[in-house]
This record gives sequence, C-alpha cells and structure tokens, in this order.
Amino acid sequence: MIISASTDYRKAAKAKLPPFLFHYIDGGSYGENTLRHNTTDIAEVALRQRVLNNMSDLSLNTEIFGEKLDLPIALAPVGLTGMYARRGEVQAAKAAENKGIPFTMSTVSVCPIEEVAPKLDRPMWFQLYVLKDRGFMKNVLERAKAAGVTTLVFTVDMPVPGARYRDMHSGMSGPNAAARRVFQSMLHPQWAFDVGVFGKPHDLGNISTYRGEPTKLEDYIGWLGENFDPSISWKDLEWIRDFWDGPMVIKGILDVQDARDAVSFGADGIVVSNHGGRQLDGVLSTVKALPGIADAVKGDLKIMVDSGIRSGLDVVKMLALGADLTLLGRSFVYALAAQGQAGVENLLDLYEKEMRVAMTLTGAKSIKDLNSDSLIKL
Ligand code: FNR
Ligand code: LAC
Repeated sequence: MIISASTDYRKAAKAKLPPFLFHYIDGGSYGENTLRHNTTDIAEVALRQRVLNNMSDLSLNTEIFGEKLDLPIALAPVGLTGMYARRGEVQAAKAAENKGIPFTMSTVSVCPIEEVAPKLDRPMWFQLYVLKDRGFMKNVLERAKAAGVTTLVFTVDMPVPGARYRDMHSGMSGPNAAARRVFQSMLHPQWAFDVGVFGKPHDLGNISTYRGEPTKLEDYIGWLGENFDPSISWKDLEWIRDFWDGPMVIKGILDVQDARDAVSFGADGIVVSNHGGRQLDGVLSTVKALPGIADAVKGDLKIMVDSGIRSGLDVVKMLALGADLTLLGRSFVYALAAQGQAGVENLLDLYEKEMRVAMTLTGAKSIKDLNSDSLIKL
C-alpha cells in the first residue's frame, strides 16, 4: 500500500538496515499507542477545500529567529544518525542546506560538531540533552558557539529513557545483543560495507571529543539511562539561558501549563513533542495537544511541532492548527537510510509538492494564511 513518500522510504530503510537499527528508529515505547496515534490523529484532521482563488503566486517561505527558510520545516535532532548512512549527519545537514532549511544536530550524534559545521554555509542548530556531567554540557555549548551554531534546542522530555521493548527484541539491547548485531550486519552486506566498514568511527562524536577517547556504542541504551539526569528542573535551565546568547527552544512540551512556563522562563520557542511516541506511551498525540497550546501561547514564542509528520499534507495541517514550524524525525531518517543525502532532498521535494497542492486547494497563498479557516471542525 503506497500512501506517502515516507511509507516507501520506510520500506526501503527496513530492507537496507540491520534490524537492530531499523527497530530503534521505527519503534516507540511500551505498547506504542502514542506512536500510532501521532499518525492516525493527523489523518483525521479535515482540510477545507477552497477553489478559484488564483493561486499562481504561492509561497512556502518563512522566517524564524531572523533566519530565512525555503520551507516551514527543520530536520529534528536524531541520535546515531551516522549509523543509518555513512557519516549520516553530514549527509542530512547538506540535504537540509540544499533545500534551504535547518538541520539540528543531536547531542548523541555520531559525527561531532567539528566534522559537520565546517562543511556547511548555513548555520546548523544544535540539540542539547541534560547529562549528569555538567562539564560536558558547558564544553559542548562552547564548541557549538565556536562552530557558528545559532539556535539551541534543549530537549526536556527525556530525563530517563522510555521503555523501548522493541530494542530488547531486536538486539539493540537485551541478551547477546553484541553478537546478534554482528550477525544481523552480515546479513545486510550493503550497509555493513558502506556504513559498518567505511562509515567509521562509530561512536558518540560530541562526547568522545570532550572526553578525548572513543565512546563505545556497545550499550548505547544503557549509556543513555546512566548519563541522563532525572533531577532536571526549570532552575537548571537558567544557567544555560544565561550562557547561550542565541535563540533557545525547549523541546518536549505537551501541556498548556508547561508551554506557559516556557514563556515565563523566557524561551524563544518550544517544540510541541512527545518524542515521536518514544517516551511516555499514553500521552496525547501532538496534533491533539497543539491547538490548546497554540491558543495559550501563540505569538509569545515560536511554536514548533513534531511527532507523526509523514507528508507535506501533514505539515500543512500542523501549520493550520497553530504551529509556526514543523520538525521531521523518522521520515527524513528513513529517506537517509534508503538513499543518503539524495533521498532526503527527494523527500523534501515531494513534501514541497504536496504542500503546494494542499495550499492551492485550501486557498492559502502563504504560510501565514494557514490557520483554523483552512480546516473543518468535524
Ligand atoms: C529521536 N529523537 C531525538 N530527540 C532529541 O531531542 N534528541 C535525540 O537525540 C533524539 N534521538 C532520536 C532518535 C531516533 C531514532 C528518533 C526516531 C527520534 C526525537 C526526534 O527529535 C523527534 O522528536 C521525533 O522523531 C518526532 O517524531 P517522528 O517525526 O519521528 O514521528
Ligand atoms: C531516542 C533518544 C536518543 O529517542 O532521543 O532514542
């Protein structure tokens, strides 16, 4: 069944990647209910068809924090991107740059900041996790600044990793994981040569650079559990805000009160996110959480949203529901795993075309025109 470009790329990624990586990307937490609702709830949103409005001069450009974007999209931070394609962060960042949108590097990327930033003309965004080692956080922020990073995305919905049972079954974690990963890699020779052999070093590049020694990926999930800091609170964010002079975005907001708190804190933006259904299963899909949050804080800060966006149509719906910008997680990762940089560029081309059709037929000539009038309440 072909329902979107993302679906096709997902299939291709599944064929190419060893299962431990595919399921790490594809899976969610617990029973994966929120993961599922993220996409099924977007599908339920009804667009309002309008015709005969002379839509020949349609524009998809937007601007955020003084930065011009060709599409209202950014690539979300995704850990281990360099394991899905050879030096994957470089390929994804170049694709984003060529399509005129921001790439967000994850704290737990394979390629370090210093490998990616010098290859780009466009400043990249950087995502920070709260690690117990505050020395690392300071160090990485200084390096991000030095590399010309503009926007800091601070992720707050992962004080502890969610229970990802798929990872235990797939060999990402669980019994005999290392041996199972080797065996799976042998059965995926294209990936094994391209990424497994020629894509080295395989480690957490930002953390290895700080420590001055390689960070092994053997027990990545265990490492996250040990090093992430569950004691984080709004107070801990203050020194980061004082230290960082560029825009600061809080990622992982799903509640109206937390969104209001982000405004009081002085954040420049939020990402309405449930981490792609990978953290607390049973929470609202972002498409359901977004309208209430937009009602409460629209205009006070930039509202970004992710989780479940799988097409240009989904982007249009999220903007109509109150978002200023959308972030793509899995959908760009599937394309990257399948076809590298060219895959991500092609995916973004397809999203652009879908957006053009959707905006033409809802009578929205620009991103600003997308609002509740573009939708029908069912
Ligand atoms: C993520 N996400 C994530 N978020 C973050 O802030 N830092 C990170 O390192 C990661 N790592 C990561 C790895 C993988 C494999 C996935 C799929 C996701 C979450 C990501 O930024 C985003 O919130 C979700 O992916 C959005 O949901 P969709 O688009 O994947 O449905
Ligand atoms: C994940 C982390 C790394 O979702 O954000 O797997």
